[in-house]
Amino acid sequence: MARIHFKPSGREISSRDGETVLAAALREGLVFPYSCRSGSCGICHARLVSGEVQPGTSPDGVLDASALASGAILLCQAISSSDELVIEAHEIETLAETQVRTLPFRVTRLEALSHDVTAVTLGLLKGRGRLEFIAGQYVDLLLWDNSRRSYSIASTPDNTESIKLHVRRIPGGKFSDHELSTLKQQDVLRVMGPLGTFFMRDDLRPAICVAGGTGFASVAAMIESLRIQGKRSPVEFYWGVRSRRDLYCLEQVSMWENEMGIRFTPVLSRPDLDWDGQSGWVHEAVLADYTDLSGLQVYASGPPEMIAAIRETFPEHGLAADALYYDSFEHAVDPPGLEPE
Ligand SMILES: Cc1cc2nc3c(=O)[nH]c(=O)nc-3n(C[C@H](O)[C@H](O)[C@H](O)COP(=O)(O)OP(=O)(O)OC[C@H]3O[C@@H](n4cnc5c(N)ncnc54)[C@H](O)[C@@H]3O)c2cc1C
Ligand code: FES
Repeated sequence: MARIHFKPSGREISSRDGETVLAAALREGLVFPYSCRSGSCGICHARLVSGEVQPGTSPDGVLDASALASGAILLCQAISSSDELVIEAHEIETLAETQVRTLPFRVTRLEALSHDVTAVTLGLLKGRGRLEFIAGQYVDLLLWDNSRRSYSIASTPDNTESIKLHVRRIPGGKFSDHELSTLKQQDVLRVMGPLGTFFMRDDLRPAICVAGGTGFASVAAMIESLRIQGKRSPVEFYWGVRSRRDLYCLEQVSMWENEMGIRFTPVLSRPDLDWDGQSGWVHEAVLADYTDLSGLQVYASGPPEMIAAIRETFPEHGLAADALYYDSFEHAVDPPGLEPE
């Protein structure tokens, strides 16, 4: 067990043996920015002021050399190896009240949204409480073999008894292919959530939402929430997919355009022959329209390659460090000992 002191808040928690700093913080109701929990996205970086940690594993480059030299650690990976730690990290007060829980849900609807995306609607079992979340957050599905897969909640938080997920089939994938193909109505799934810190901040700067593939789910939840609340915040929405058949829920997007004045730009990386809209990478389409991103905020959700490109290029175009929020759909790493499919 170790005592962990956080600066500048002065909050203090205890971590259990073998527990990461992030897991200990979430258990004790402190929320710091995080997304993948696998050491890949870099959101949970913080500074170790004193004490020692086992840093865990993360791909090269998640923390650069200068950050490492100044004591940077990843909260989702670091495990204390001394009795006391002092860590500089900024809490997210908005989520302090949301409680992460594991709840049983029943599959109530399965609906094909496109050739490879299925909308999975899950209803909370009666009398088992509510799932309170903020639009943009995700849940983990806990699979039969103790592995887990993360999916953004595509529905809005006004419904606390049912959630909708958009699952894209990855050929050979444990959940999105094998389990989903046999999943049927009335099946029960264990769901842990809400997770993540991707949600629209109370910030007056105009927002650009960028989705890649099923990154649409979290962006849809955010925009639809604004619509329900009657907010006409200035929002632009860019959606990158391969070809036209990958776009779905376009009626909902049209409603946002008409009712909320949102400008929607679909961007195809493998455009159909008769496509006359934007083509290429979605982050390049944003930069073609906005050479100067200062004064804006960006919400990005989707494949790790898209998020990495945005993290690298948008700050070079003036996007402020506190104006980029993202969820990176990192591939799950199953715990050692689980049999590969
Ligand atoms: C915060 C977060 C939110 C997410 N939200 C969504 C969501 O809303 N919708 C959604 O569909 N997915 C989402 N994902 C991804 C999802 O959690 C799974 O990783 C994905 O569905 C694959 O799981 P699987 O069990 O089917 O495949 P696995 O069995 O995990 O993988 C099978 C093989 O495919 C590879 N692979 C895995 N994913 C991809 C990919 N995207 N492209 C190419 N190869 C891949 C793996 O490396 C492995 O070799 C999210 C991930 C995170 C971290
Ligand atoms: S690297 Fe820690 S949450 Fe992604």
